[in-house]
Amino acid sequence: MKAAILEKYDKNGRQLVIKDLPMPEMGKNEVLIRVSTTGVNPLDNMIVRGEVKLIVPYPMPLVMGNELVGIVEKVGASVTRFKIGDRVYGRMPLARIGCFAEYAAVDENALAQVPDYLSDEEAAAVPLTALTALQALELMQTHEGDTIFISGGTGSFGAMAIPIAKSQGLTVITNGNAAGRDRVMSLGADRFIDYKQEDYAQVLKEMDGVIDTLGDRELPKEFGILKQGGHLVSLRGMPNGGFAQRMQMPWFKRMLFSIAGKKYDNMAAKNGQHYHFIFVHEDGAGLQRVSELFAEQQIKPSVDKVFTLSEVNEALQKVAAGGSNGKTVLKI
Ligand SMILES: NC(=O)c1ccc[n+]([C@@H]2O[C@H](COP(=O)([O-])OP(=O)(O)OC[C@H]3O[C@@H](n4cnc5c(N)ncnc54)[C@H](OP(=O)(O)O)[C@@H]3O)[C@@H](O)[C@H]2O)c1
Repeated sequence: MKAAILEKYDKNGRQLVIKDLPMPEMGKNEVLIRVSTTGVNPLDNMIVRGEVKLIVPYPMPLVMGNELVGIVEKVGASVTRFKIGDRVYGRMPLARIGCFAEYAAVDENALAQVPDYLSDEEAAAVPLTALTALQALELMQTHEGDTIFISGGTGSFGAMAIPIAKSQGLTVITNGNAAGRDRVMSLGADRFIDYKQEDYAQVLKEMDGVIDTLGDRELPKEFGILKQGGHLVSLRGMPNGGFAQRMQMPWFKRMLFSIAGKKYDNMAAKNGQHYHFIFVHEDGAGLQRVSELFAEQQIKPSVDKVFTLSEVNEALQKVAAGGSNGKTVLKI
């Protein structure tokens, strides 16, 4: 089968190579999926640049790709949730990514059924960012009626996080690129701030929760608009000790991340706030809940551009360049 492979980490962004590989070996809890589409994410570029290797140290060479849509072709002996022919999607298990490929073997617990109303291209926009939103909202410990701020909500994360947050009864304020205003308002955002025209830190205060997608340069301002005791969940900031503990990392990584994330833990503690870093993990059951919610509300993810597997490097460059109008997708 053909697959896009990273041969070596490269902080300047190395090109992936397309190679012929043997079919993936299947464990007893896994299904073999004929991949139809896969989402391309900023995370893929971060993996190429070696920026997440302390969190997940992948051995090289590595078949790239973190989320997939496809058809089940074979099921392992212990699989109970899926059968041959099912149309499934999921975030690949953290320890075993690799779906920029014609086939992937995936643990059934990472998968969910794709809602019928979504095309394969649209479905590829859902798993990774929708699960990030679920996992971030859980850490934020917000309740119905609370107000949250999501930075950079005009990207592919916001497209999932806004409707999911709304379904939990939250008021959602977001900022981002003006071109995405109508799209995020139609997803249910209650207020939009154009990041090039207005500084959210001047107009917002006492947020019950904040989801940060921008990292170091914005975090101090984001803490500034968070209420005392509120939770800030960052997708882009520094991992901290709490994160290492949740990920059940060995003691030396817990120590390392405790030191690395201390700056933000301290910043939070000054006002009795809480800082969390998140690295999205697989969760088939959570994704099934998203499928049900999206089918009920007929939420349509927006797809920006669709590339082929042989155009994978162009797709990665497009994601790196920003200016996204929705998800970048590979059609395998
Ligand atoms: N930790 C995790 O598990 C996890 C999971 C998912 C995503 N993430 C991270 O979350 C971030 C967002 O992901 P994404 O897929 O939504 O990215 P994306 O599709 O590239 O969207 C980013 C959005 O943010 C906007 N933006 C840029 N600078 C901004 C600023 N200063 N203020 C407000 N908005 C700004 C961008 O607008 P322009 O078009 O003007 O640039 C764009 O609309 C990425 O860094 C990604 O790595 C992390």
